[in-house]
Amino acid sequence: MLEFGCGTGSTAIIHAPHVKHIVATDISEKMLDIAGRKARDAGVENISFRQGTLESLELEAESFDAVLGLNILHLLEDVEAAIARVYELLKPGGIFVSSTVLIAEVKLRWRLLIPVMQFLGFAPM
Ligand SMILES: C[S@@+](CC[C@H](N)C(=O)[O-])C[C@H]1O[C@@H](n2cnc3c(N)ncnc32)[C@H](O)[C@@H]1O
Repeated sequence: MLEFGCGTGSTAIIHAPHVKHIVATDISEKMLDIAGRKARDAGVENISFRQGTLESLELEAESFDAVLGLNILHLLEDVEAAIARVYELLKPGGIFVSSTVLIAEVKLRWRLLIPVMQFLGFAPM
């Protein structure tokens, strides 16, 4: 399984006992530090945390049975490109699970809020 934008790893850790292996990725090294710590504390050993984006990471095409992208699509510049990349990474018949607010106005509001949240230390740089 692949989870992109895994944040502090909570969902990857919940899914870990039910799958063979998870590649959990995030753009933020800080988020991944926390995620790695949480996974170690939970005794979870089948998650590989990798820093990067769907575009920057070298991931093998058609290599995942499932891809998770939770609360992340609204933060991406090009959602269509991200979904196309997910499709490329999934094995035929694989599933993409996403839960994301994608209403245009909400998306715009979120994007405007990100620099403010980063400045205040509530979002990763
Ligand atoms: C709102 S959090 C959601 C975290 C987690 N998926 C959850 O539902 O709890 C969004 C996460 O996406 C990461 N992120 C933002 N842009 C990204 C990108 N282009 N590629 C990968 N991760 C990204 C952020 O660092 C943050 O950890």
